Amino acid sequence: MIFNSVNKVVLSVSLLSGLLWQASAATISDRSAFVDSLIGCMTLEEKLGQLNLPAGHDIVTGNVQNGDTKEMIRRGQVGGVFNIKGVGKVKELQRIAVEESRLGIPLLVGADVIHGYETIFPIPLALSCSWDTTLVENVARISAIEAAAGGVNWTFSPMVDIAHDARWGRIAEGNGEDPYLGSLMAKAYVRGYQGGALDNPENIMACVKHFACYGATESGRDYNVVDMSRWNMFNAYFAPYKAAVDAGVGSLMPSFNIIDGVPATGNRWLLTDVLRNRWGFKGLIVTDYYSIGEMNALGIGPRRTGAVLALRAGVDMDMVSHAYLERLKGALEDGEVTMDMIDNAVRRILNAKVSLGLFEDPYSRCDVSDASSGKLFSAEHRKVARDVAAKTFVLMKNDNSLLPLKKNAKIALVGPMAHARNQMAGTWSFTSSTKDRHRSVLDGLRDAATDSNLIVYAQGCNIYFDEKKQNAVCKGLIPRGDDKAMLADALAAAADADVIVACLGESADMSGESACRTDLNMPDAQKQLLEAMVATGKPVVLLLFGGRPVSLCWEKEYVPAILNVWYGGSEAGDAIADVLYGDKAPQGRLTTTFPRTVGQMPLYYNHLPTSRPDPEDDVFNLYQSNWIDERTSPLYPFGYGLTYTTFSYDPVKLSSDKMPKGGAIEATVKVTNTGKRGGTEVVQLYLRDRYASFCRPVQELKHFSRVTLKPGESRDVTFLLTEEDLKFYNADLEYVYEPGEFQLMIGPDCQRVETLTFTAE
Ligand code: NOJ
Repeated sequence: MIFNSVNKVVLSVSLLSGLLWQASAATISDRSAFVDSLIGCMTLEEKLGQLNLPAGHDIVTGNVQNGDTKEMIRRGQVGGVFNIKGVGKVKELQRIAVEESRLGIPLLVGADVIHGYETIFPIPLALSCSWDTTLVENVARISAIEAAAGGVNWTFSPMVDIAHDARWGRIAEGNGEDPYLGSLMAKAYVRGYQGGALDNPENIMACVKHFACYGATESGRDYNVVDMSRWNMFNAYFAPYKAAVDAGVGSLMPSFNIIDGVPATGNRWLLTDVLRNRWGFKGLIVTDYYSIGEMNALGIGPRRTGAVLALRAGVDMDMVSHAYLERLKGALEDGEVTMDMIDNAVRRILNAKVSLGLFEDPYSRCDVSDASSGKLFSAEHRKVARDVAAKTFVLMKNDNSLLPLKKNAKIALVGPMAHARNQMAGTWSFTSSTKDRHRSVLDGLRDAATDSNLIVYAQGCNIYFDEKKQNAVCKGLIPRGDDKAMLADALAAAADADVIVACLGESADMSGESACRTDLNMPDAQKQLLEAMVATGKPVVLLLFGGRPVSLCWEKEYVPAILNVWYGGSEAGDAIADVLYGDKAPQGRLTTTFPRTVGQMPLYYNHLPTSRPDPEDDVFNLYQSNWIDERTSPLYPFGYGLTYTTFSYDPVKLSSDKMPKGGAIEATVKVTNTGKRGGTEVVQLYLRDRYASFCRPVQELKHFSRVTLKPGESRDVTFLLTEEDLKFYNADLEYVYEPGEFQLMIGPDCQRVETLTFTAE
C-alpha cells in the first residue's frame, strides 16, 4: 500500500497527541513511506537523537560520555539503550520514550546476551565444539525468549571473529579458527535469535560483530593493531560475517581495530563498499562502544573527526560517545556531512524499530507479569542447558578408560573450580542474577553419586600464589586460603579416595574481553596441586576449565584423563556429572588448535604452506621452517576429541577421480563403532588445492557430518563436492576456482586423515 494522504493525516494527528506509536499500527503497511514521513516530521536534533545509544549503567567496559538518560530520552536525544538489566527498568525507559518525548518513538533495547540471559549456556567457543548447528540455534532461541522476557529486543551477538592466537582472551567468545564452521555457526545464531519474523515478541534482533578481523590482533593483545592483506581478509576472515549477512542479520558492529590503516568504524571501504554494496547488507551499523572517540588515540582526530568519518563510512548508531549527538550538527553546517547521510542513518534505525514491531507495541517485550518472568531460568531451559553443556566437553585423554567413573567410587574432588558456582557461567554473563544457584561440580557429583558422602571436597589451592594476581582475575569471588594448609587438606581428601578429580584452569574472568595472557600454562598454584595429586599415585582426572586453548604438555604426559569442560554455564555441574559417570558420552571436538607452548602462537591448522615445511621427525632440521626448542606441530589438533568408544574408518571411496566442469563428485567412507558403548563421531572432510596461481592453505575444512552409532554399528557417510568447495578469492578479490589437482582428506580430526587425489576440470 502506498503511504497516502490518509496515513499522513493519521501520522500528524498522532504526532499532535504525542502518541505516535498507538496510531501507527494502521499506517505501517507501507514501511518505507511511514518511515520517510516520520523523518519528514523530525527536527535535526531529533534525528541525531535517534542515532545516539548512551551507556547502560549495569555494565561499563570502557570510556563513556555520561548524561541523565531519562531526561535525554524525554528530549528525544536517545534512539536506544543497552545493558540495562530488569524488565521493570526497561519498561519505564520505554514509557518515557513513547509517552513523554515529542515524537513518541520507541527505543531499541540492546544487551550483550552472548550465551544466555538468565539460563546460561556454555561459552561460545565451547558451543562451537559441539559442531552442532541445531544445538547452537536452539541456544540462541532460548536466549532470545529469555532476553525478550527481560525487555531486550536487540543482542550484540553473534561474535564471529576468527582467532588464531590463544593469548587473546576474546577467543572465548567466538567459534574458533575455521571460517567454514564459523559461517555455519554464525547463521545458526542469527536464525535462533531472529526467528522467522522480527516482530514476534519472542524474537530479538541479532548484531554480528566485530567487523572485521578483530581476532587477528597482534600478539593476542586486546585492542591492538591488526594489519593484513585484503586477500587474506577475504579468504580467511570475512566468511562468517558474510554468512551472518546472508542469513539476514539485522545489525552489525565494526571492530575496534584498524583495517588498511583506517579504523574499522570509519572505514568506508569496509562498511560501504564491501558490506553494503558487495554483500547487500541493509541493516543498521552500531559502533563498538567508544570507537568514535577512540579515533583520537588512533591518531585520526577528536570526536568530531571520528563522527564525520564514521557517518561517511556508513555507521548509523553511535554507542556511548555522544559524538553524533554533539558534533554532527556543526559538521553538517560546515558541509562535512549531508542531511542525506543523516537521514539514511535515521532510516535504518527506524526500519529496525518497525521490523521489531515496536511502533505497533513498544511494550511487547516489557511484560512484567509472573508468566513472563517464569520464562527466565525455567526448569525447561535449564534442562536444555544441561544437555547442551555435556555436548561441548572435549575428552582430550582417557588412559585405560579411566572415565567414566563408577557412581560408587570414592572421589577426592579438589581444585578452586570444584565448588565455585559463581564461576560456572564464564565471561559475558552479567545478565544472570542467579549465579548463586548455578551448579558446581560438587553439587552435580553429590547428587549423582550413589551416596553423597563418597565425594570429599577440598579447594586445595588458590588460583595463583600471588594474591594481587588472583584478585585481578577473580575479584574476590574465589576464596583465598593458606597455600600449605589447603594442599594438606587436598592430600588428606586424596588419601582415602579411589580417584582424584581435579577442577583446575582459568577462573571465569581469565578469558573474555580484556583478559589476554602471555602464559598459557596452568597457573602456578594449581599446577603445584596437580603435581601433588599425581604424586599420590592415585588415578587423577583433570577437569580443565577455561576459555581458550592452553598448553598442557606436562598434563598430557602425567595425568591419565583430561576432560576439557570450558565454562559450561549455569548447569555445568550436573552436565559434568552426567559425563563423568557415563550417563552421557563426551562428544565435543576442538575448534581451535591446542599449542605445545605459547611461543607457537599464532597457531592454526589452515595456514598457508611454507617454502620449507618441517618433516616433524623428532629431530631439529636445520634450515626448515621450525623452532630449535619445540616441535612445529600442535599438542592437540583442530577437530580433535575422544569419546567413550572407538571408531574405525574404512578406505574412502570417490565416485570419480575427475570432477567435470559444473559437475560434482561424491566421497564416501564407512565408519564403524568398534567399542562397547554408543558414541558420536564427527567425520571431517578437508581439501587442499595442490597447485594454483595463488598459495592455498595446506588444509581447509569443507564438510563434516556428526554420526551417532551404537556399539558395532556402521554407517556410510557421503559428502558431495562441487565447484563451490574449490573456490577462493584471487588478487582481484573475485571468487573463482582453478582446474587442477586437489587433495581430499577424511578423518576424525585434521591430522588423522586418509588422503586421496582428484582432478577438477
Ligand atoms: C565492547 C565489546 O567489544 C562489544 O563486544 C560489546 O558488545 C560492547 N562493548 C557493548 O557492551
